[in-house]
Amino acid sequence: MPCLDSFARPINYLRVSVTDRCNLRCVYCMPAEGIDLVRHEDVLRYEEIARVVQAAAALGVCKVRLTGGEPLARRGLPDLVRLIAAVPGIDDISMTTNGVLLPRHADALAAAGLRRVNVSLDSLRPNRFRAITRCGELTDVWAGIAAAERAGLTPVKLNTVVARGLNDDEVVDFARLTLEQPLNVRFIEIMPLGANEHWAGDGYVPMSEVRARIEAALGPLETVRGHDPVVGNGPARYSRVPGAPGTIGFISPVSEHFCFHCNRLRLTADGKLRPCLLSDDEIDLRAALRGGADDQELETIIAQAIAAKPARHHLDVGDVPHARQMAQIGG
Ligand code: 5AD
Ligand code: SF4
Repeated sequence: MPCLDSFARPINYLRVSVTDRCNLRCVYCMPAEGIDLVRHEDVLRYEEIARVVQAAAALGVCKVRLTGGEPLARRGLPDLVRLIAAVPGIDDISMTTNGVLLPRHADALAAAGLRRVNVSLDSLRPNRFRAITRCGELTDVWAGIAAAERAGLTPVKLNTVVARGLNDDEVVDFARLTLEQPLNVRFIEIMPLGANEHWAGDGYVPMSEVRARIEAALGPLETVRGHDPVVGNGPARYSRVPGAPGTIGFISPVSEHFCFHCNRLRLTADGKLRPCLLSDDEIDLRAALRGGADDQELETIIAQAIAAKPARHHLDVGDVPHARQMAQIGG
């Protein structure tokens, strides 16, 4: 049974940032010069992450997502997947990646027990993709998506953060992908985090507008219920163009916050538990891990983090987090 937080929300999902490093520099995520990176010795080792997962599983966590930075920027990630897959009670391991390194690692990840990947992709135009990521090649991402599909890391979901003037003119093109392929394309409202306060001000596009643009071009969307084996894991609402093989998801953290259904806890690469993505409050777990805490003590700290989850974020009144960039939390 999952642990309930102070608002009776069952917490069964842990997002683990394995590194704050990334091989891309998306304009809304990182400053061009990069971020102050966590020192290597401050990053949790795989054995330490596995201990945290084990303690979290004892409290009812059954789903783990690996994030970054870019999780594949860290060496030997299949080793971590294997450790997590061996933890009793963990029945779903997934990863959010920019996809660039998937051709090299998809098979090993799948063999280690990774189930699925979400691939972040904000433009279908090579030049623009290069501009948004400041260095990425779009063909690498498509090769990564194909590799994930071949390796059975399916269903592959695309995560597309929509920002005005950046890529909002491409939402219909993204939606069209679902007419040809069984992809899940998920649009995400940009949140005001770290480097991206600039975009969050002028760039914010509500999902209602994204949906309206798609429906104007492709006709009314139908709601999809229960198509996804992991529905309930996340906040997307799914729709589809009638008859299309793929689905379209709308994630509205800003316009329709889904905090009241929040089921997650986050672990940063440097070993802090973050009860809420959009609050700077954190609880240090690394000190306990390295100070010889036993499993019971780890569980107590994780339970404290669960109890510290706020009811909701307060972006609507301009209450935004400042302490970390997205790449240091992992979304
Ligand atoms: N708002 C919304 N989504 C963001 N991501 C990164 N920064 C932001 C932001 N400010 C997305 C990435 C990736 C996921 C982990 O979070 O594009 O898909
Ligand atoms: Fe890297 Fe993802 Fe941030 Fe882009 S959004 S810089 S891929 S962590």
